[in-house]
Amino acid sequence: MYRKAIAVLATASALALAPLTGAGAVVNGTTAAAGQFPFMASLQDGSGFSFCGGSVISSGWVLTAAHCVPDADATDLYVVTGRTDLADASTGQRIKVSKVFVNPAYANSAHDSALLELAAPTTATPIALAGAADDDLEATGAPVTVAGWGDTLPTMGLFSSNQLAYADLKVVSDGECGQTNLGFDAPTGVCAAALLKDSCQGDSGGPLFATKAGRPVQVGIVSYGQSCALPKFPGVYSEVNNGQIRSWITSVSGV
Ligand code: ARG
Repeated sequence: MYRKAIAVLATASALALAPLTGAGAVVNGTTAAAGQFPFMASLQDGSGFSFCGGSVISSGWVLTAAHCVPDADATDLYVVTGRTDLADASTGQRIKVSKVFVNPAYANSAHDSALLELAAPTTATPIALAGAADDDLEATGAPVTVAGWGDTLPTMGLFSSNQLAYADLKVVSDGECGQTNLGFDAPTGVCAAALLKDSCQGDSGGPLFATKAGRPVQVGIVSYGQSCALPKFPGVYSEVNNGQIRSWITSVSGV
């Protein structure tokens, strides 16, 4: 039995700040069109509960956050790919995870990354991963997008959604991020924010991505935050092109 990982409890002030919106996961997100983010994966247990996000990086591998699968147990673990509305089982694939690999460097929210080996190939189009030469994609103020099926309000599951949603954010500097996210590990983290928009509980493990030459490139993995969408509290993402994280991904998955 999985639960949505919760980094920090919701606060009353967060509820007051985030206006009620209609459909769409991610706080103040926009509902995604079918096929808009073909690399998006939902991590589910046997009951079909979506507790985290992930990204397809090849036909056999999904990248997610370590805190989504901390015990590395694949027994009751599935990924759904190629689906925008999780209630519509006529689209996409539901695939068993055969093995979970947690980054051995994961500690104290740093290096928050894990790889899921699929028991059968996904036909979903994978997302490219940022490499060492892609630091410009995470420069302060650079435009990035996060997508997921997580909470639309920081209320621990009360307002989650079957509809994939996304929010356009801007990269926040490591220095500014560390002022409110105490313990932020700058070498393995990248932060992003936009007024009243944020990833939230249930979005963890999903991708933060930039667009380069018209194609999405993953720069981060949803990791943690203080509640969601609080002004001055950027969301924290694992940094895909950190040397250890990027080479660990290659050594395990070949990607
Ligand atoms: N830890 C959360 C999860 O497991 C994700 C939190 C992201 N929070 C944020 N404010 N950006 O789903």
